Amino acid sequence: MQPVKLGLIGCGTVGTGVARLLIEHRQLLADRTGIPLDLKYVADLDRRTDRGVTFPPGVFIDDAWTVVNDPEVDIVIEMIGGLGAAKELIEAAIAKGKQIVTANKALLATHGNELMRAAADAGVDLAYEASVGGCMPIVKSLREALVANEIHGMVGILNGTCNYILSQITATGMPFEQALAGAQANGYAEADPTLDVEGIDTAHKLAILSALAFGMRINLDDIYIEGISTITPLDIQFARDFGYRIKLLAICKNHGDRVEARVHPAMIPEHNILSHVSGSLNAITISGHAVDDLFLSGHGAGMLPTASAVLSDIIDLARNLRRGKTGRVPLMGYQPDRIQPVPV
Ligand code: HSE
Repeated sequence: MQPVKLGLIGCGTVGTGVARLLIEHRQLLADRTGIPLDLKYVADLDRRTDRGVTFPPGVFIDDAWTVVNDPEVDIVIEMIGGLGAAKELIEAAIAKGKQIVTANKALLATHGNELMRAAADAGVDLAYEASVGGCMPIVKSLREALVANEIHGMVGILNGTCNYILSQITATGMPFEQALAGAQANGYAEADPTLDVEGIDTAHKLAILSALAFGMRINLDDIYIEGISTITPLDIQFARDFGYRIKLLAICKNHGDRVEARVHPAMIPEHNILSHVSGSLNAITISGHAVDDLFLSGHGAGMLPTASAVLSDIIDLARNLRRGKTGRVPLMGYQPDRIQPVPV
């Protein structure tokens, strides 16, 4: 079968993981899918950092626009993050009819509806499994396993950095800054870790899930957001003494014609499974009318767990390309006027 040609933009922690899986497991992926995946480009301005990956000659370039403008590239994988160049590159790639894979939760939570609409109008898919929960297949669960359910609500731990920090302080009593430095050293934190510790990254993810689960328009301002920066080791110790763990939770509830969405630290009793979700693990309970509760857990941040989710999207889109189909990836906010957020 004709290879599907891939262009990866951004070779930081997750981008490097994606390149590693594509290069080191090329044969396994081809055997499993029957579709050879050809990594034509990896574009990053930083050409000096040793990423521990041997790129075939000519693959590593520094100009992202080469990827977007090359008519041979079938799928553009956007791994630079943030709201600046990422949006321009994705918009241009959509206009050129390329399939898109992104893990960019900030971009999706802010401009998701317009990007998804542009992709649908262009007849391409914009896949985003890795934008929420790292390796946890939460988008595919909502899209596939739970598609027949009316979703009542979700409660989850959706930020690996915060969960790592809280777990480290709980286990060792180490200062907040030291725990944050550990999360950064492990590649969990955002380039600006304020997004993590102030709960904003979690809110981005909750906005994406709420749009997907409830068909509502994404509006970040409607989410109550409180992070973990004011939690002290003493708070954590007291909670522990009383049989609780402190976790940063993302909560959304369906009230019929309204959706309540909030992010804040909470005391979780030790008998609740969420209290045992430690380190960079994420977890979520999704309540649906037919299934009751579905619980997912897995590494929510880090190189290979997140890259694994990106690969699942790449393979989805490659299969669709070879079958001449698009449209399996659901739009977010598909019934924008039916359900409104509860004002905070
Ligand atoms: N900074 C994010 C986290 C990365 O810690 O969860 C994964 O989205």
